Amino acid sequence: MIGASNFFELSVATAIALFGMNSPAALATTESMSVSFQNCTLGDSGMKITVLHGQKHHGSTWNTTRLLLDALISQEDEHHEFCANDIPDCIGCFTCIMKDEESCPHRSMTKPIIQAIEQADVLIVETPNYCMGMTGQLKTFFDHMAYRWMSHRPLGEMKNKIAVAISTTAGAGARVVTKQIARQLFWWGIPKVYRLNKAIAAAKWDDVKPETKLKLKQKAAEIAIKTRKNHGRVRRGLRQKFLFKMMAVMQKSGLGTPKDAAYWKDQGWI
Ligand SMILES: Cc1cc2nc3c(=O)[nH]c(=O)nc-3n(C[C@H](O)[C@H](O)[C@H](O)COP(=O)(O)O)c2cc1C
Repeated sequence: MIGASNFFELSVATAIALFGMNSPAALATTESMSVSFQNCTLGDSGMKITVLHGQKHHGSTWNTTRLLLDALISQEDEHHEFCANDIPDCIGCFTCIMKDEESCPHRSMTKPIIQAIEQADVLIVETPNYCMGMTGQLKTFFDHMAYRWMSHRPLGEMKNKIAVAISTTAGAGARVVTKQIARQLFWWGIPKVYRLNKAIAAAKWDDVKPETKLKLKQKAAEIAIKTRKNHGRVRRGLRQKFLFKMMAVMQKSGLGTPKDAAYWKDQGWI
């Protein structure tokens, strides 16, 4: 539910989105945050927002993400940003799935990001389009989340989260990329994923036409309004509910791993 005071903040956020291109938040830097934790706590209530960047540099996708953050974040919110760079490739050892995610050889790199995602109300995942797909770095992070898929040990709280998938591309492919991200998040159990994607006809943000930037800003403001409005109100759709039930049947019949079945029992789902 949005309180009356939040309507004021929402109006301010929207005004910033539409008129305040060079607001301080837009200029905030994430230069040194490769897999490191940047605590941007602004208050002790409101929404918790976690941002995962699929690329370290401050390109068009990063700037598009700033447009959304400028429109979305209020004084009461808390937000944390991470980059997917530098996480080693998944080595396919199956340790997370069969044994325990804490024993993953890369856990020290992924754990702070995963914890922030699991504690967030809103998750923002962004990546440029590289060869009609997300960056390898981001895919590497998603590979480390295999154990959190609905078919293994999904986090129950995922059903309350809203996500935004963001991508830019020079010509084609940004839509494909946000769809790829949305698919991953769907299988984690997140019920609502907004998608902000655009062909920007440029290799650099400075070369993006002002009218294209304006369209991005308007779309970002629309998504910010919907996100804040639906915060705490999202529900699983029929497809997700059906798949969850199917997975429960699978776990109950012993078709999953013993580790997964024990988790489902602990959660009281089977
Ligand atoms: C390795 C690489 C692969 C790319 N592949 C494509 C592509 O398949 N199609 C396309 O239209 N643009 C492609 N681009 C262009 C980028 O998607 C585009 O410039 C994007 O806006 C860059 O976002 P960024 O500034 O956040 O990195 C590619 C760029 C790079 C560096």
